[in-house]
Amino acid sequence: METEKTDFLIIGSGVAGLRAAIELASHGEVLVVTKDVMRESSTEYAQGGVAVAMSDEDRVGIHFEDTLKAGDGLCREDAVRVLVEEGAERIIELIEWGAEFDRAGTKLDFTLEAAHSRRRVLHAHGDSTGREIERVLINKVVSLEGVRRFPFSMTVDLVVDGGECRGAYVLKEGRMYRVLARATVLATGGGGQMFSRTTNPPVTTSDGMAIALRAGAVLEDMEFVQFHPTVLFAPAAPQFLLSEAMRGEGGILRNIYGEPFMKNYHPDAELAPRDVVSRAIISEMVRTSSPYVYLDLTHLDPAFVKRRFPRIYRTCLQYDIDITRDRIPVSPAAHYMMGGVRTDTNGRTNIEGLYAAGEVACTGVHGANRLASNSLLEGLVFGAKAGEAAAEASAGRAVPDLPAVASPPAYGRIDGYEEIKTRLRRLMWDRVGIIRCAESLGAAREELSNFADILRHQYRTREELELKNMIQTAALVTEAALQRRCSIGAHYRSDFPQKEGCCFHVEWRMEGDGSLVSRRLWQPAREEPAAEG
Ligand code: SIN
Repeated sequence: METEKTDFLIIGSGVAGLRAAIELASHGEVLVVTKDVMRESSTEYAQGGVAVAMSDEDRVGIHFEDTLKAGDGLCREDAVRVLVEEGAERIIELIEWGAEFDRAGTKLDFTLEAAHSRRRVLHAHGDSTGREIERVLINKVVSLEGVRRFPFSMTVDLVVDGGECRGAYVLKEGRMYRVLARATVLATGGGGQMFSRTTNPPVTTSDGMAIALRAGAVLEDMEFVQFHPTVLFAPAAPQFLLSEAMRGEGGILRNIYGEPFMKNYHPDAELAPRDVVSRAIISEMVRTSSPYVYLDLTHLDPAFVKRRFPRIYRTCLQYDIDITRDRIPVSPAAHYMMGGVRTDTNGRTNIEGLYAAGEVACTGVHGANRLASNSLLEGLVFGAKAGEAAAEASAGRAVPDLPAVASPPAYGRIDGYEEIKTRLRRLMWDRVGIIRCAESLGAAREELSNFADILRHQYRTREELELKNMIQTAALVTEAALQRRCSIGAHYRSDFPQKEGCCFHVEWRMEGDGSLVSRRLWQPAREEPAAEG
């Protein structure tokens, strides 16, 4: 096996990874490893925007409170404070680097999304906010000396020596490399692809969560998967996100008989928290025996709709849906994982030398349910924090020099890979989805145990490694969902619908024999509400 050396290894090239790379570039050589082209990540597909308290009517204290409320009592307040307080600085810097957010006249234009009490969501090119942020960050990274890139390179596992992370094993063009680094930042995003319905691109296979677990990292709150309520449901159409901003701008949800229904479920109607809207849609689908409901924008000014949602307009038109004239068939889909690799507010994990930021991480900033459009901000803020912390902790340290190692003597093959992947994704959607119970979760656990042998081997194709990672993470999500016998935020148990006694976090670790151990941490009582400022 060949060895590569670098000062800082970044795994993942979405908003968090790129922002960490930018931070680290002035402290040594950086290597960004990503399994596809650089821009292929959830960031690229983020539509609605980036939440930041910068409008005249807003305050960081109000953004703080809205985030806590959406998190349903499980947010870590220190992390939320960092997010809302450092957010504006990260956005201003992004604008200085060339980001073009939409404006009303000369002022930044802020839109409204569910559970925000102010218009606070910046957007770019109407509904291509993530793409604009990714464009600017890639340009910045490319302009920096000393940042190398390994696209099409799949991280297999972390190199852990003496309890410290010293880099990672990376599969590049069919060859296995051992990349040694002073510090490693995991920024691989989430695992929406575990579910058969998801807004996430194909690269989101929970790789970082699985490799961190295998390396001995602590993961937390894995049962909290956010389901986005409105995803295109049309024959032959992709599972295309229909931004929450469409409801923010006045879009109405109707059942197949054309009846608006959200008022029957929540006083905030279309702008109720996402878990409430997703469950309401499922109820209406069941009630009307339909696999979808409608999102209706036909009462809005067509010119405004086309201008405000150009990408969505064009995409739907390809499937014969003119969103200015037709109601759009939608149903929910897996969207974002609130849990992940446990970190402090500086991206530090429990493993020395290993940092994590973005969706792969769990700072506790989202609690049990993420406030819409907080994730791009999270990537910017905590990507920068992780970079800063990695630079500081590894200052003066040399790149590790470990004895040469041979490649694993034998690699496994997964027979029936496509079929297993489809079974896994359907299983997670049907049994570990929006509404869970002991019976569905128990069935999922049993079926997942049939795939246990896959976890015992090493593989040399990206597809097999991704499947192994998804199975590993799916098992953890299922165990976590089984163990939490109550309902809070995005985790809803029909057999335990009560929230009482549910304000705790659960940490998970894997033992040497592959078994999972958990520890419950009670959420501290709420501090005094922050003064507005
Ligand atoms: C959306 O545009 O609805 C997605 C935004 C988000 O999930 O934060």
